[in-house]
Amino acid sequence: MYDIAVIPGDGIGPEVMKVTLDLLEVLNVQFNFIEAHAGYECLIRTGTTIPDETIQIARKADAALFGAVTTVPGQKSSIITLRKALDLYANIRPIKSYPGVPALYPDLDMVIIRENTEGLYSGIEEKTPEGATAKRVVTRKAAEKICKFAFEYVRRTGRSKLTAVHKANVLKKTDGIFKDTFYNVARSYTDVELDDRYVDATAMFLITKPHMFDVIVTTNLFGDILSDEGAGLVGGLGIAPSANIGENNGLFEPVHGSGPDISGQDISNPSAMILSAVMMLNYLQEYEEASKLQNALSEVLRKGKKLTPDLGGTSKTGDMAQDIKEKIELN
Ligand code: NAI
Ligand code: MG
Repeated sequence: MYDIAVIPGDGIGPEVMKVTLDLLEVLNVQFNFIEAHAGYECLIRTGTTIPDETIQIARKADAALFGAVTTVPGQKSSIITLRKALDLYANIRPIKSYPGVPALYPDLDMVIIRENTEGLYSGIEEKTPEGATAKRVVTRKAAEKICKFAFEYVRRTGRSKLTAVHKANVLKKTDGIFKDTFYNVARSYTDVELDDRYVDATAMFLITKPHMFDVIVTTNLFGDILSDEGAGLVGGLGIAPSANIGENNGLFEPVHGSGPDISGQDISNPSAMILSAVMMLNYLQEYEEASKLQNALSEVLRKGKKLTPDLGGTSKTGDMAQDIKEKIELN
């Protein structure tokens, strides 16, 4: 029995969460779902976007599922607060195409690993008489942790190559440390093929020759931008999942936001949330159930009969999920 913190959030967050929990319930694993709140509606009800109770529930649980929240200007970001509070230093974003999903590259399968706690998202911004400045923090400790994590990930998943992405020619001190740390850590992983590239060239090669990449490790902002670009290569935000991993906790969430333009219509694509749940099952070492859920979704995508509008279909979220459920039960 696993305790799972469930943070549905706002907009389409609760919609994709609900159908995902229903699918988890039909697997051969027992879950105790503990609901916790975050986001805009939570702010209205409790006065904060992320109550301490939510952080405690997520910390104690075996894993956490996060839907999506509507950002409120001037308020703490609930997801960034959670990443920091639980020290979820590694953000894994698979870029994978699925047969049946219209994509620029129908055969792509790569992963972006993003440092999740510092860089330009360290949150140290300051108004100055002329405007404002933001601090880009790169510590040796965090760089070493994320590079080690990435090398271990390549080994564990049987992938072949790791590319460090940076801009050390301009950001000489911060990305200088990131790049040097990458090569220092690499000495313990002589079995892994590796290289490093500038972020601007990487942004171009992701479009022209994405197959040259297998796993990318990079700093926070670069990883955020490149992973959305990556999602665009394989069919968009509706199928892009992610994992936030720390020493003691794992939190799994779709890359997309609360989809205010489509929420309430039962047409959001649940795939990104479902694939995030697949990543959670793998994290819990429930490999067989993870494949079962992923295969059922793949089959529904491939058949193309019950797809949401963003995938070119006319189905409702609930109908697509129902189809996935039937595939799981058939297996
Ligand atoms: P968004 O990801 O919510 O939507 C972007 C576009 O993609 C929209 O046209 C939306 O309809 C579509 N889309 C997203 N997910 C989809 C799905 N599952 N199925 C079908 N279509 C989907 O990003 P946007 O509009 O920039 O932000 C909306 C709100 O979400 C904002 O308040 C933003 O700050 C917040 N946000 C929250 C995130 C989180 O909770 N981690 C991440 C990104 C944005
Ligand atoms: Mg983003």
